[in-house]
Amino acid sequence: MFLVFACHAPPNCSLGPTPLAIVGEVGPQSAPFVALCYALDVGKRNNPYARADSRTRAARAQGYPARSVFKLKEVDAKCHLLAPGQRVLDLGAAPGSWTRFAARTVGPSGKVVAIDLRETTIEEAPNITVLRGNAFHVHPEISEAAPYDVVMSDMAPNTSGTKLEDQSKSFRLFCGAVRMGARLGKLGSHFVGKLFMSDDFEEARELVRTHYDKCRVIRPKSTRTGSSELFLVGLSLKLQLEESDDAGAPGDVGDANGDDSPENHRESEES
Ligand SMILES: C[S@@+](CC[C@H](N)C(=O)[O-])C[C@H]1O[C@@H](n2cnc3c(N)ncnc32)[C@H](O)[C@@H]1O
Repeated sequence: MFLVFACHAPPNCSLGPTPLAIVGEVGPQSAPFVALCYALDVGKRNNPYARADSRTRAARAQGYPARSVFKLKEVDAKCHLLAPGQRVLDLGAAPGSWTRFAARTVGPSGKVVAIDLRETTIEEAPNITVLRGNAFHVHPEISEAAPYDVVMSDMAPNTSGTKLEDQSKSFRLFCGAVRMGARLGKLGSHFVGKLFMSDDFEEARELVRTHYDKCRVIRPKSTRTGSSELFLVGLSLKLQLEESDDAGAPGDVGDANGDDSPENHRESEES
């Protein structure tokens, strides 16, 4: 006698798409299949990044691909970064919520240049330029649109599962983003960047203070419980970097291997 076991596999599971169906002969040998199916299903239900929670649904209802928009909205409400007519550089833009919010705020007279290693869901528009690639490589479109009024970075590394390594990569992405802000922002421009909390926090804050009049630290309410991320805001750029200065390209942090599986972007996926 044959039986079909059905369960839900995670979208990136090598065993197959959702739902996963396995045909097997009933008997003691089918126990591992049942256990596997159960584990996959429970795993999905327990993984907060695999579920569309109320914030994700609310974001989608407002036309944003991810819940991360609420973080930028909160930072913007507190720090008044974005305004009509501005030029904005969005580093680590996929899937595109920050880009869309910024484009809506700066309006038709403004401009948002967005870049990510991954493809964004945002379509090009007269006030949006979408680039794919490592933010720390040379992209003429980025320098052509400079100087910017706001440089924002929601960049996050592919999470490795090793906390120290992820924190160190996040710190390097953050520092690289600050330096890009100081190189491509106009005097008086603003910066916001994501950082995974670590022992490097003070150094990161010092870097922001070196270049900006004021530094604010914000952990948005919409950040998921258990996430170590926070945002550092630099208000009013006072010390620019020259074009020739090292933009702080942080070596191998940008993982251009195209692996955009949800597992590899656990922190970043819905953040
Ligand atoms: C949290 S997600 C960004 C979410 C986005 N702000 C939104 O609202 O849709 C972080 C992104 O950083 C990108 N990223 C990481 N390192 C990068 C790099 N060196 N250059 C460009 N993008 C990078 C990842 O590919 C990932 O899509």
